[in-house]
Amino acid sequence: MTDIAYHPTRVRALRESFRALRTTEFPWTADTVYLNNASIGPIPERTRRALDQFTAKRTAPHLLPDRDIFGMMQAARELVAELINADAGEIALAVNTGFGLSMAASALPLSPGDIVLLSDREFPANVYPWLMQRSRGVEVELARCTAEGWPDENHLLERLRDPRVKVLAVSFVQFSNGYRVDLARLSAACRANGTYFVVDGIQGIGNSVLDVKQTPIDIMACGGQKWLLSPWGSGFVYVRRELIAEIEPAITGWMAFEGTDDFSRLTEYNPNLRGDARRFELITLPYQDFYGMTESLRMLIELGIRDIAEVTRALHEPALRWADENDIRVVSPRDEARRSAILCVAPPKPVDAYHALKRAHVVCSLREGAIRLAPHCYNTLEEMEKVVEVLDGVI
Ligand SMILES: Cc1ncc(COP(=O)(O)O)c(C=O)c1O
Repeated sequence: MTDIAYHPTRVRALRESFRALRTTEFPWTADTVYLNNASIGPIPERTRRALDQFTAKRTAPHLLPDRDIFGMMQAARELVAELINADAGEIALAVNTGFGLSMAASALPLSPGDIVLLSDREFPANVYPWLMQRSRGVEVELARCTAEGWPDENHLLERLRDPRVKVLAVSFVQFSNGYRVDLARLSAACRANGTYFVVDGIQGIGNSVLDVKQTPIDIMACGGQKWLLSPWGSGFVYVRRELIAEIEPAITGWMAFEGTDDFSRLTEYNPNLRGDARRFELITLPYQDFYGMTESLRMLIELGIRDIAEVTRALHEPALRWADENDIRVVSPRDEARRSAILCVAPPKPVDAYHALKRAHVVCSLREGAIRLAPHCYNTLEEMEKVVEVLDGVI
């Protein structure tokens, strides 16, 4: 996100306006503190209602004509595009993050001896598709993280000078510590060196601002199930406009080709892939999940990602204060330019702390020896204070 300083009064006002979401969209928050958005984001009530309506129609398929389905899918592409300031033609809808990363790994023109550069603590979705490319002679280099466990951006930049490095693939936000990479800096270096820049967006999109017009990325994959508060089975791949025509999908769907919109002439096979990112879509997709995603995206866009970013980061304050007062290691960066909505703290007995939180109806994750607290727009300061109270009882 662009780092603008929010006035505390404004953050407080935003937090109060977001509070209404708890009764309207997430009523179960009355008895559960849910801080596990980095694992699975909850489906808002408005999305559930939309899904129910869709499923009711699905019982009688003639109530869901092709025109409506394809109109809805286009709306989903347009909303995703709005979210990251892309063009709708640069968006392919996809069922998860792994699909987009696998598509990137298999479609980018790599030759024997080329190097794919990764950081060595990436989530496996951004590792295995690249390791698979070793069978075509591609080398995968896992760059060591810093002592803090964060991607070593300086080292990555240094390695980008090596002309054999053809791809840099990073997570926007690291799953195990919330570190948000400086995409602009890495993007500029990739452009200068002619390196493809691939991003796993799932832990950042929805809680951190990204404008792909300002920060060029070649391919970004993102599932909808976490910070986009969308159904499992929804997600997208962004492919930079100029790159679309240069690469072809390794596996293909029948609607990836020109002419397939006219269902009356499907056997007039047209060998030309579509000119937009739909060439990477594998239709038939789980339409109900994308229908749900459109509702959730509308809500997030209405709230404003910049405001969500600000509110979620401000929610970390009680835990940060407690960590400082008790000499507890904060695994996440504190620097505004590297923070995300994810805050990881490593108390001395993390497993005990995790179970104590669970007993207190606080849902969070234990990742790489740290408690991962991942608040979204509907969480409150009181909830974070409750977390601190529980953690305090276990040190
Ligand atoms: C960084 C990162 N990438 C990808 C995923 C998930 O990938 P997929 O959407 O393919 O299940 C996760 C979490 O599950 C993640 O934290």
